[in-house]
Amino acid sequence: MIKMISRMSLHKKAIFATASILFFIISINTLVLTYIATKRYEHAILSKTTAIGEGMQRQLGKVLNLGIPLESFEGVNEKLKELVSRDTAIGCALVMDPAGKILFHNEQDKIGKELEDKASLKAVPSDKILIQELDPYYNLSFPLLDAEEKIVGALLVRVHMEDIHSQLYEILFWALGISAICFLLSLGFVYFFTSKFITRPIMEFRDAAVEITKGNLNKKVDVTAKDEIGELADVFNEMTLKLKESYTGLEEKVRKRTKKLQEVQEQLIRKEKLAAVGQLASSVGHDLRNPLGVIGNSAYYLKMKIKDADEKVMKHLDILQREVQRSNMIITELLDFSRVSPPSLEEVDVNSIIKDTLAGIKLSGNIVLETKLDENLPKIPADPGQIHRVFQNIIINAEQAMPGGGRLEIKTMTKDNFVKIMFEDTGEGITAENLPKIFEPLFTTKAKGIGLGLAIAKGIIDGHKGRIEIKSEVGRGTTLTIKLPVGD
Ligand SMILES: Nc1ncnc2c1ncn2[C@@H]1O[C@H](COP(=O)(O)OP(=O)(O)O)[C@@H](O)[C@H]1O
Ligand SMILES: [Mg+2]
Repeated sequence: MIKMISRMSLHKKAIFATASILFFIISINTLVLTYIATKRYEHAILSKTTAIGEGMQRQLGKVLNLGIPLESFEGVNEKLKELVSRDTAIGCALVMDPAGKILFHNEQDKIGKELEDKASLKAVPSDKILIQELDPYYNLSFPLLDAEEKIVGALLVRVHMEDIHSQLYEILFWALGISAICFLLSLGFVYFFTSKFITRPIMEFRDAAVEITKGNLNKKVDVTAKDEIGELADVFNEMTLKLKESYTGLEEKVRKRTKKLQEVQEQLIRKEKLAAVGQLASSVGHDLRNPLGVIGNSAYYLKMKIKDADEKVMKHLDILQREVQRSNMIITELLDFSRVSPPSLEEVDVNSIIKDTLAGIKLSGNIVLETKLDENLPKIPADPGQIHRVFQNIIINAEQAMPGGGRLEIKTMTKDNFVKIMFEDTGEGITAENLPKIFEPLFTTKAKGIGLGLAIAKGIIDGHKGRIEIKSEVGRGTTLTIKLPVGD
């Protein structure tokens, strides 16, 4: 039973508890009240009958006092009839002699007969009023005494209680009926009350908790009551909010850390790659330098020796020399790359490095150059040689991205303790697919490219604790932004 109740929902428990209590109270109340009413009713009837009986006893006593024998009384039967008619509960009334012979009776045919029931016979010798409870009726006997105080008979009134009991049963029936209706109404009220003010709000809490467990931290408990449950709802909502705040804070932290980790990892990979490429580049570079030198010298020698050779031979000797020169440049770049060392910092003016770099590059004629250099740019701690190389690589890339001409804009400005340098070209742009790879060493989309320019640039800027970012749109152009920290 207890197990079954514990498995019930809160709502059912409340109803069950109320129903049990109500049932108990109403049943006890009805039964006790009905019992008391029965007893009172019985008592009232007996008192009333006693009073009537006594009246009759007195009347008969007066006549007996005159010395007239009981048997010769007249008009007694009529008086008994009248007595019986006084109350429906009075079944019969009779006068008997001490031997139990009926002298007078309200019913004519009983007169002269012997009393049959033994209980009634017992009433006769008593000299006091005797009340006998002989379920379902009461016998009330009143002794009749003559002038010498001798018992000459008794007046016996029989009160039937069946009628009263059946009336009381009817009352009980109605009382139970009304109680049942009250019981049902109370249950309905309890149902409504507990569901509206207790179970429904608790369900809200349960649903909210389930949602929150699923990860929906925006879920709120919608309880507007001003009672303890309302207070609980406020506290609950506040708790959820705090949870959400700490959760999103945590998420943000994890996101930042992960990004940092990724960056560090990428840097590490890039460094490894650079180191490997560097090693290879320096050994191959050194090995190629000598044979290239020999080829260059030989070409020079031949050119000197055969001055009158035909034009075609001269042209090929020129090509030989030019390509040797180019190969040497590539080797220099490779060796340079393998030698990117920590920057040796000095206070430098970024604007003048830009001007120097531009002076060393001859941009093709169809490119319009525009510079917007902030005159108030602070000096920053940087390695001028390395920064020069970064700018050179970027400007050359921009030029190579605009074979049909275009515009290159170079801007400098200060922002949040950083010097910001922007290179904006209107070249071919970079596809979204290539964009994440362009800082990787050896990544190139050019037939004669090496793919080291931006890798070197990134290495140098990282070494300066700066940032290098790129934005690009195919067909529209590319913007490279460098941020270098202003020293303190
Ligand atoms: N300004 C730019 N416009 C378009 N693409 C660019 C630009 N700068 C760099 N790139 C792309 O990035 C790649 C890598 O550049 P870089 O490291 O300098 O190597 P390389 O110039 O030898 O190809 C280039 O091949 C090119 O595809
Ligand atoms: Mg390049």
